[in-house]
Amino acid sequence: MADTPGPAHPRPLRLEALAYGGDYNPDQWSEDVWDEDVRLMLEAGVNLVSLPIFSWPQLEPAPGVYEWGWLDRILDKLWAAGIAIDLATATATPPSWLLRAHPEMHPMDAEGHRLEFGSRQVYCPSSPVWHENVARMTRAMAERYGSHPGVVLWHISNEYGDHTSRCWCPESTRHFRRWLQDRYGSLDGLNDAWGVNVWGQRYTSWDHIEAPRKAPGPINPTQLLDFERFSSDAMLQLFQLEVDVLREVTPDLPVTTNFMSMFRDLDYWTFADAEDIVTDDAYPEPADPIAHVGAALNYGLMRSLKGGRPWLLLESSASATSWRDVNVPKAPGKMRVDSLQAVAHGSDAVMFFQWRQARYGQEKFHSSMLGHRGEASRTYRETKALGQELKRLEAVRGTRVRARVGLVVDWDSWWGSSAIESLPSQRLNWARQARAWHRAMHLLGQPVDAVRAGGPFEGYDVVLVPNLYIADEAQAAALTAFTESGGHVVVGPFSGVVDATEKVHDGGAPGPLRGLLGVEVDEQWPHADGVVETVDIAGASHENPAWAEWIEVVPTPPSGATDASPGASGRMGPAATAVIGTYSSGELEGRPAVTRRDAGTGAAWYVSAMLSEEGLSAVFAEVLGGAGLAARTEVDVDFEAVTRSSDDTDFTFALNHGRTPLKIRVPEGALDLVTGERTGATLTLDRYGVAVLQTPRDGIPPFLTLAH
Ligand code: GAL
Repeated sequence: MADTPGPAHPRPLRLEALAYGGDYNPDQWSEDVWDEDVRLMLEAGVNLVSLPIFSWPQLEPAPGVYEWGWLDRILDKLWAAGIAIDLATATATPPSWLLRAHPEMHPMDAEGHRLEFGSRQVYCPSSPVWHENVARMTRAMAERYGSHPGVVLWHISNEYGDHTSRCWCPESTRHFRRWLQDRYGSLDGLNDAWGVNVWGQRYTSWDHIEAPRKAPGPINPTQLLDFERFSSDAMLQLFQLEVDVLREVTPDLPVTTNFMSMFRDLDYWTFADAEDIVTDDAYPEPADPIAHVGAALNYGLMRSLKGGRPWLLLESSASATSWRDVNVPKAPGKMRVDSLQAVAHGSDAVMFFQWRQARYGQEKFHSSMLGHRGEASRTYRETKALGQELKRLEAVRGTRVRARVGLVVDWDSWWGSSAIESLPSQRLNWARQARAWHRAMHLLGQPVDAVRAGGPFEGYDVVLVPNLYIADEAQAAALTAFTESGGHVVVGPFSGVVDATEKVHDGGAPGPLRGLLGVEVDEQWPHADGVVETVDIAGASHENPAWAEWIEVVPTPPSGATDASPGASGRMGPAATAVIGTYSSGELEGRPAVTRRDAGTGAAWYVSAMLSEEGLSAVFAEVLGGAGLAARTEVDVDFEAVTRSSDDTDFTFALNHGRTPLKIRVPEGALDLVTGERTGATLTLDRYGVAVLQTPRDGIPPFLTLAH
């Protein structure tokens, strides 16, 4: 079948190299600086820049009066030098004249304050005036520059929701009501969904519904959840508006909007469906020695949002940021290893905010590729070196990460489990669970993709469900089918608790997952702060600092013909649930904490506790063993290895995120693309060192370990 654009066949990026460059703000400089910019960009290997992201007022200084000249000149200059353009639609922030003419366009916070001009992203996402003007500006940009040969990608808006992801103004409230009408059809439907008989909240008119604000006590949880869903959808609608205009005027150009890694406020699965290429802005905290672990989770999500296709790191920092309380620079070599980590995880780009360090404004202390000292700056020296190095890694472009482990990323459960009240404990929520579970798996050496709760799970051996507070039958069926065909599922605490309207499932948790897991939760049993209980697994005691559950192992009905054959445990007959870990202190002492039910040729684990990292590692090592996957026995948080593969070649990135050299075992005779040399049986990664080992593609990716 022809590879025509569409959700399954996104438009590709027309760039015959790994992309290298950054945000470029030529309108903050006089034109005589531009020639130097282009010269130094070429010297550094820059081949893609993003502009004019925040330049609407410079492009349309008065309504309908356009000043395209400067943008024409710089685009031509860049393209004449062979530098391609990620062209922003310039709608990231409105001009002052638009806001002054339409004060109702200002976003409003939950306390009823209109947010003022003087910063960026000053708009209500639901404002009809904003929509109308965004569509107009996008069309004007597309008509003027859509056929410019240098333009290879549309950069829509900028980091939706960075500053304004929720709006409580009257317009947003009206939009919220329309969204609810679409979802529930009738007021009865809404009243039923929101469970309004609790605390007397029955609505008799749509006009009585408000966006959730400060109330005398805890707010209806389903109202809160729906406001999260609505706010994400309202932003998606705004994005889709631009996508539609661009698809109409420039049907062959790919579109993107830059994400903000794991961002709670927007359901990126839905945004990724609407675009051609996933792009991400990543700012791991340089002062945090394990920030790269969180980055690996973020990048796993980015490559998974479009089924494993390469994504683009569109922004990162060459050294310090300027928006933290304390902005620690990146030590020499750190920018390189941070950048190559993104490439290891499937990015076909290394881009920065920004090319030239600003002299004024909010971001003048933010590092850039070209620092205040210009060519002499350290960041520029490192920028040049990285640009050269990326050329040596060209063979990895277009290849895909081979991960055998997927982790369920689910915004509904994230929102539902992190409401600020009306939950058993504030210490457990989806994000905290996801990070902890990812970290434990990461340390065992297996790269982790993101998957949707309802699948597809093909291609994975292990699926981690760190928390699925909101779960439905379809998700349970997909997970069950996965285990029955040999998959290994691990489900975390407080899962399968409620349905999409936040009603507790019949019989309680784990609701639709009961048959899969073979357990029932009698009571959630969070610990008081400071109380640390323990769980015993295979004779070892592990800390359990915050959460436990009183669970009962229950017989489960036979699940098809495969149940009568030996499972992983070699048992015959209907699958029973085995107790793998036991609470070993506190009120639940002696009760099951971790269980495994063999189903078909796979297995379903339930971890009812919020285990410490060691406890999780013990469970996950068992799971990996059962699934036939390797696990590191010796762990060093600085060491990471990820493989990207083409049809016939594996490229295994070995990264040292720390300052102490690491000796590792590697496939002998591999070509290291970084040094151009063949490897022996081991190699040493220096401080922030990176090796990229090219080997013929094998059944499973090389699994690198520490050597001593
Ligand atoms: C991003 C933003 C950029 C710049 C950068 C600084 O959030 O998209 O415009 O502000 O942060 O780190």
